[in-house]
Amino acid sequence: MKPGTLTAEPAAHADAAANEKPVLAILTIDDDIQHFRGNRANFADLLATGEQMGFIAYVLTVKHLKLDRPRLLGYTYDSKSENWAKAYFPRPDIIYNRIPQREDERLPRVRKKLLSVARQPDIQLFNRRFFNKWTLFQWLNESKQTRPFIPETKRLTESLVLSSLLRRHSHLYLKPVRGKAGVGIMSVRVQPEKNLPYRLQIQEEKGSRTYRCATMNKLWDRVLKQSRAVGEPYIAQQGITLASVNGRPFDLRALVQKNISGQWELTGIGARVAGDTSITTHVPRGGYIDEPEKLLVSVFGQEKAQKVLAKVRSTVLLLARQIERSSKHRMGEMSMDLGVDASGGLWFFEANSKPMKFDEPHIRKKSLEQIFRYSQYLYHTARQHKGGVSP
Ligand SMILES: Nc1ncnc2c1ncn2[C@@H]1O[C@H](COP(=O)(O)OP(=O)(O)O)[C@@H](O)[C@H]1O
Ligand SMILES: [Mg+2]
Repeated sequence: MKPGTLTAEPAAHADAAANEKPVLAILTIDDDIQHFRGNRANFADLLATGEQMGFIAYVLTVKHLKLDRPRLLGYTYDSKSENWAKAYFPRPDIIYNRIPQREDERLPRVRKKLLSVARQPDIQLFNRRFFNKWTLFQWLNESKQTRPFIPETKRLTESLVLSSLLRRHSHLYLKPVRGKAGVGIMSVRVQPEKNLPYRLQIQEEKGSRTYRCATMNKLWDRVLKQSRAVGEPYIAQQGITLASVNGRPFDLRALVQKNISGQWELTGIGARVAGDTSITTHVPRGGYIDEPEKLLVSVFGQEKAQKVLAKVRSTVLLLARQIERSSKHRMGEMSMDLGVDASGGLWFFEANSKPMKFDEPHIRKKSLEQIFRYSQYLYHTARQHKGGVSP
């Protein structure tokens, strides 16, 4: 949005007292140049869906979220003129946190604001924070039901961690705990019969770079150099040999969201096939989108593929419940990256509390609607508890 495209005098959009519609604010961070950050196309789609579903919805920045005011300055999108405009909106009943970057969410002023929002009895906040790959692992390790789906994982604090894991698994993934889109991911393979037995692959912008090391010490030096460049703590994880088609491994992306009854429900599953020389399946790293069912059928045949899919459908709900329970914060949605190994076993790689847009149209449409269905649930249950008007 160019600053010039804003309406100069913010108009009062709706009067808090007069409206009986639920009010949802998409929370993001303010930006000096473009007013607010985040995926604007996604926000515009959300606002349009909200309006169709009887909500007052707007984009709200942390800066304009003033908890002592009845009306707040927010942003709305006009699809005819393709402009974002500033206007006053009623105080929200629901806040959907879409602050896009971890660094922004970690700012003291942002953390303080989120904490005070969470204490407002009349505002329902969901998806309060980003996940961290190490805590996710610990949370899922706490329950017998979810433990079987996590690859063995350790914090990569010293070379001993690497060497002892390599004794149990000949293939490892090393990942930054707060990583995203494959950045900084490494994979290690041991091939003891070779005179350079350790093969380290590092994910780059496109494709990956390979190093061969003669000794554990040399390997550790390389790993340390790379992890220091990324500047994040790392985890080391058992590598899963993913099912593959035409020599390309693929994994599954599931979107799980709460529904109008406040229960976790699977919105859809997509598949990502790895790029030619990539060690991950991310689309920006050369990966591409395909249909999970088609891929699974080509690997396992019809009958087994249906069994795997059924297992995915039930497992993602278990995983979501456990993650929310351990995180101790209310969640409305998360996406998950899952691997299927060559024998059809299911593995959890990570979950995201700020899911990226799914490009599959049927998943996309439902994903937008579910946000507001769950918000309807939050709105009505909060009112009932208050003893207010019930629907
Ligand atoms: N333990 C593992 N075994 C095999 N493949 C893995 C493993 N961990 C990650 N991957 C591959 O790398 C991709 C990126 O890993 P992920 O944990 O999702 O990190 P990011 O935050 O970068 O997306 C996964 O989608 C999967 O294709
Ligand atoms: Mg991922």
